[in-house]
Amino acid sequence: MQVTVVNKQIQATAADAIIVNLFEGVTTPGGATGAVDTALGSSDGVPGSGAISRLIQLGDFTGKLNEVAVIYTHGLIPAPRVIVTGLGKREDFTPDRARQASGSAVRKARDLGCKRVATIVHGSGIGGLQPREAAQAAVEGALMGAYQFREHKSKNDNKAIEELIVVEYDAAKLAEIEAGAHAGQIIAEAVNAARTLINRAPNVLHPETFAQAAQEMAARVGLKCTVLTEAGIAEARMGGVLAVAQGSAHPPRFVVLEHEAPGEEGSRESEAGLPTPDSRPFIFIGKGVTFDTGGISIKPSENMQSMKADMSGAAAVFGAMQAIAGLNLPRRVIGLIPLVENMPSDRAYRPGDVITMMSGLTVEIISTDAEGRMILADALHYAKRFNPRGVVDLATLTGACVVALGEGVAAGLFSNDDAWANAVLRAAEEQGEKLWRLPLYPEYGDKIKSDYADIKNSGGRVGGVGTSAYFLYRFVEGKDEYPWAHIDMAGMMFSNENRGYLVKGAIGYGVRTLVRLAQAAF
Ligand code: BES
Ligand code: MN
Ligand code: ZN
Repeated sequence: MQVTVVNKQIQATAADAIIVNLFEGVTTPGGATGAVDTALGSSDGVPGSGAISRLIQLGDFTGKLNEVAVIYTHGLIPAPRVIVTGLGKREDFTPDRARQASGSAVRKARDLGCKRVATIVHGSGIGGLQPREAAQAAVEGALMGAYQFREHKSKNDNKAIEELIVVEYDAAKLAEIEAGAHAGQIIAEAVNAARTLINRAPNVLHPETFAQAAQEMAARVGLKCTVLTEAGIAEARMGGVLAVAQGSAHPPRFVVLEHEAPGEEGSRESEAGLPTPDSRPFIFIGKGVTFDTGGISIKPSENMQSMKADMSGAAAVFGAMQAIAGLNLPRRVIGLIPLVENMPSDRAYRPGDVITMMSGLTVEIISTDAEGRMILADALHYAKRFNPRGVVDLATLTGACVVALGEGVAAGLFSNDDAWANAVLRAAEEQGEKLWRLPLYPEYGDKIKSDYADIKNSGGRVGGVGTSAYFLYRFVEGKDEYPWAHIDMAGMMFSNENRGYLVKGAIGYGVRTLVRLAQAAF
C-alpha cells in the first residue's frame, strides 16, 4: 500500500472513501468530521445538520471504539463514501485507540473494494495527541488492519487498497505528519512481515527458508546478516541448538542481524554530529522453532497446527530489525535468531539425554518438548561476546504463561534488572502491546536442579513459566552478566478475530515494542 500525505480539506478529497472519526457521546461533530457533516447537510452550512449528525440522532452510531458506519454521499462531495470510525470515550483515549480505530475503518474500506482511501489523522484535535504520534498511529493501524495473508490461496480474488492518503488541512502540522506517517509505514510493514512468516506453512517455512528470508530482507534494508549453518553451529559448540535440531531432516540455522548506528562504524558519531552515548549494542533474541511437535515427548495432535507459530519470537526480531534499519535508528542493535524444527525420529534427542551447552553447563533432558529454552540458552550465551547494553529475548515458551495471562491478552516479562525491565515495559505500554512482569524468584532455580547433570530442562507443570525463565537466567548470570529481559509471548501468537488493527491469524506481537525500545534512552 502506498502512503501519501496531502494538505487538503478531507471533504474536498477525491477517493473511493474518506475516513473521519467520532468520540462516543458527541452529538455535534466538530473539526474535520464536522466539516464533512456540514458538507453532507440538507440545510446549507448549518452545523449539526448533516448526515453524520443524523446518524447519531437516530442512534445508529454511538462512537464506540471500533464501531464503523458507512454513509453514501450522493455527489455532495467528491468521495462516494464516508466511513465514520468510533474512538470510544474521550477520557479513555490513547494512541493505541487511534491505531485501532484506523484499523477498523480501513479494513471496512478494503472489504467494500475501495482502492484509494483518504483518512484524517485521529486524535490530534480534541484527542490531544501530537501530530507526529497521531499520524504514526493512524498509518500503523491502517496498514496492520488491512493486512491479509493469501500466499497459500490458489485463486487471486484479492481486494486490496492501493493508496492511503493522509489528509491534513493545517499546513503547519504537515512536516510532523509526514514524519509520523513515514515511520508508521515502516513499522507496520515490519509487523506485517513478521505476521507473514508466522502464518506461512511449516513445510514452506523451515530453518533454511527462514534464514534465506532474513538474508534477502537484510540485503534490501541494509543490515549485516551472517548465517551459521549446521557446521558453524557445531563449531560454536551450541549443544542446545544441535540437540533439538538433530531429529529433523531440516538442519538448524543461527542468524545474526546487525544494525550499526549511522556514523558509528567510523567516527563513533551520530548523523547529528553528537557522540553516540553508548556503542554497546542492544541484543534481541527470538525463539525460532519453525514447528514444535514436542519431539519424542510428543504433543497431542489436537491443534498441533498452531505450533507453526512457535517461531513468533524469531519473527518479532526479524520484523524489528527490518524496521530499525528502515528508520536508521541511532543505536547499535543486533538480532540473534536460532532456528530449528523439533521432530520425533530415530535421530531425535530423547528424555534422559545429557547435553553440554555452549556455556559449558550440562542439561538433563526431562522433556524434549521444553526445546525453546535449549536453543535460547545458547543464544543468550552467544550474546555475551558483544558486551551488550541490554538483551531481550522473545519466545513462545510455555503453555503455563498462557494459563497465567490468557490468550491474546498479555505476554509475561522476567528480568534480572529493574531499570531494563522498566524500559521494556514502557516501550510496550507506549506501543499498546500488553506486557506484565512476573517474578524471577531463586526458588524456581531450585526446581530445575538435576541428579544427573548441572540442571534439567523442565521443572514440571507447577510454576512452569517461572522455572522456564530461571532456566534461561542460568545462561545469563555470572561472568559477563548483562541486563536481560525475557518475554514469554506464548499467548500472543494468534488473534481469532478481526478487531481494530488485529486480523485473524498471526498477531506479529513484539515488533513494535522492540522498535520503540531501540529508540529509548538506556
Ligand atoms: N512451544 C511450546 C509452548 C507453547 C504452548 C506455546 C502453547 C504456545 C501455546 C513449548 O515448546 C512447550 O512445549 N513448552 C512446554 C514446556 C514443558 C514441557 C516444560 C509446555 O508449556 O507444556
Ligand atoms: Mn515444545
Ligand atoms: Zn516450543
